[in-house]
Amino acid sequence: LKEEGLDQIKQAENQKMLDKIRVELMGRKGELTEILHSMKDIAPENRPKVGQEVNQVRDILQKQLDEAKDHFLQAVIAKKLEEEKIDVTLPGREGHLGSKHPINIILDDLESYFIGMGYEVVQGPEIETDHYCFEMMNLPKDHPARDMQATFYIDEEDLLRTQTSGDQARVLEKHDFSKGPLKMVGPGKVYRRDDDDATHSHQFQQMEGLVVDKNVTMSDLKGTLEMIAKHVFGQDRKTRLRPSYFPFTEPSVEMDVSCFNCNGKGCPICKYTGWIEVLGAGMVHPNVLENAGVDSTVYGGFAFGLGLDRFAILKYGISDIRDFYTNDVRFLEQFRKEE
Ligand code: PHE
Repeated sequence: LKEEGLDQIKQAENQKMLDKIRVELMGRKGELTEILHSMKDIAPENRPKVGQEVNQVRDILQKQLDEAKDHFLQAVIAKKLEEEKIDVTLPGREGHLGSKHPINIILDDLESYFIGMGYEVVQGPEIETDHYCFEMMNLPKDHPARDMQATFYIDEEDLLRTQTSGDQARVLEKHDFSKGPLKMVGPGKVYRRDDDDATHSHQFQQMEGLVVDKNVTMSDLKGTLEMIAKHVFGQDRKTRLRPSYFPFTEPSVEMDVSCFNCNGKGCPICKYTGWIEVLGAGMVHPNVLENAGVDSTVYGGFAFGLGLDRFAILKYGISDIRDFYTNDVRFLEQFRKEE
């Protein structure tokens, strides 16, 4: 029985076969068990000897079974190790890293700049109401300046905002002046009916700015705009303000920076004027304050609206505004170093 058992164990090719043999040899219906069960038929004086022998055989077989089992387990592990082998000396495959969009680079930079100056950042809805986009901003329905804003209307009241200026009205309505001055910037997408070409897009991005407090003056506006221009376009830029018109500011201005390309001497980028227009601004019109329930005899402020696309075009020398939206990776990857 012992020899037969050992033989069988040796012949087992895998764990499954081994399990079967184990059950046959050692199980409840196995031969060894049977012998132990039939002890009562053996003469009492022989019982200790037979018992001892049976136990010995069982121990030997058990040991052999354990060894075989171990052997199979080792084989499985070895196979797995072989299959999952990695060559750590192989050079790594390079992952493809995305890069920040140039407009987002400017946006993130300006946001943290303004946050550092104590402004809060707000985000108004892109589907805006006529009420906030125009009426509250001193542009009633029959106002001729509405023609300046080629508007996509959704219905009578809703439209795709043509400017982020509606954000001004929204924060003015909510601000509690007993808690301090209002300082906010509101970046986001705006839309205008326009045929897309190298310099026009039906969608672009603005950043609105608004500061309202007691005793805010035009020189505060001038200083703020000058700092923005220098921050974005370089410390040695000169700036100038030109009179302009917006329904929601009075007086209104546009700011130019001295051309960074030719340093004011004249080149194609500045159309040989030495200056580049970068934003519109002005002192908040009293009607805008009153519309939002703010006493214009006590409070006043300034507002500005800058084009993020325009900033990016100027800063990075981009010649076609459509490059911002077609998202060619070769275009986008050029800005990785600027992040
Ligand atoms: N909303 C104006 C525009 O889109 C820009 C602007 C904002 C001008 C705030 C003055 C004050 O042209």
